Amino acid sequence: MTEKKIKFLNYIKEHLSEKISKKVIETELGINDDEFAQLLKSLKNYGFKVIESDTHIWMESYPEIFSLTDIIIHTKVIGKKILPFFDVISTNDIALMLAIQGEKEGTVVISERQRKGRGKGGSVWFSPSDAGLWLSVIFRPKFHMTGVEKFTLLSAAVIVETVKELFNLDAWIKWPNDVMINDKKFCGILSEGKITSGTIDFIVSGIGINVNINKDEFPLDLQESSTSLNLELNQKVNRNDLFSAIMLNLDRKYELLKTNPEVVYKAWKQYSNIIGRRIKIQTPEGELEGAALDFDENGFLIIRLDSGIEKKITSGTITKVD
Ligand code: BTN
Repeated sequence: MTEKKIKFLNYIKEHLSEKISKKVIETELGINDDEFAQLLKSLKNYGFKVIESDTHIWMESYPEIFSLTDIIIHTKVIGKKILPFFDVISTNDIALMLAIQGEKEGTVVISERQRKGRGKGGSVWFSPSDAGLWLSVIFRPKFHMTGVEKFTLLSAAVIVETVKELFNLDAWIKWPNDVMINDKKFCGILSEGKITSGTIDFIVSGIGINVNINKDEFPLDLQESSTSLNLELNQKVNRNDLFSAIMLNLDRKYELLKTNPEVVYKAWKQYSNIIGRRIKIQTPEGELEGAALDFDENGFLIIRLDSGIEKKITSGTITKVD
C-alpha cells in the first residue's frame, strides 16, 4: 500500500463506526475529490467494507485478518513482516514466489481464505473464511539439511506447545505433518523449498489450523477425521491471540534449533505418539511394518523392520499404531 492509502485507511480506522465527512478527510489528508475517489476505490478493492453516502464514509468494523498487522510481536525473526490477504489461491504459493524474489527470512503470508490451499500429496486443504489460520512462513536456514521435514516438525512442535499453553489442550504430532487432538486432525503443515545437495535457498512452511469450524461446516469426507479448536474447547477462539502466540513460540523454537537443536529433537520425540511403538506405514516404496525407533536430525523416521534392518523413512502416511 502506498503511504497515502495507509494514511487514508488509518484515518477511517481511528474513527471506526463514526460517519466521517468526506470534506474533512480531504482537508486532513490534503487531497482533492479525485484522489479521494481513487483511494476509496482502492480500499474497496482490497476488500475493506467502507460504506458511503453522498457526504460521508464509514467502516463498521476493521477486518480481523488485517488487525494482525497491528499486533506488536516481540520476535527476533519470525513475523517481523506480515502480509495479510483476504482471498488467495494458496499462501504457500505467494510465499514461495516472494522467496524466489528474495523476500527476507521470517516474513509471513496469511490469508482470510484460500481457494485452493495445498495439502499433502496434492490434496486440497479446506480453508474457509473467518474460521482458521492459513499462513506460510519463509525461512532461510544456514545449516545443512537434506529435506524440508525438519521445518514441518519444528512448526508442529510449536503448535503442540501453543495449544497447551493457551488452552491446556493435549495435542500430538502424527508424523510427518499432522497435528492431532483426540485422534482427529486440526492442523496440517506443508513445508516446501529449494534445497540442492544440502544447500538451502529457502523453505516455506505452510501451516493450516482449523480454529472456529463446526462439525457440519467441514466437507462430509472430513467430518469424522477432522476437528477444530472451537469444537475441542466448546467455545470460539480468538485468532489474533493464537496467531501472536504462534509467532512468538516459532521464533523461540527456531532460535533453539540453531543454538541447541537436541532440545528440539527431544520435543519431536516427546510430542509424537509413535516412538517405541509398532507401526504400519505407507511409503512411496510400499507398506512397511516395524518398530518406530527415533527421528534423525532431519526429521526423518527411523524404523526397525521385522527382519531386524533399520530403515530411514523420508515420507509416508502412518496407517496403524499398535
Ligand atoms: C496437510 O495436508 O496436512 C498439509 C496442509 C497444509 C495447509 C496449509 S494452509 C496454509 C498453507 N498454504 C497452503 O496452500 N497450504 C498450507
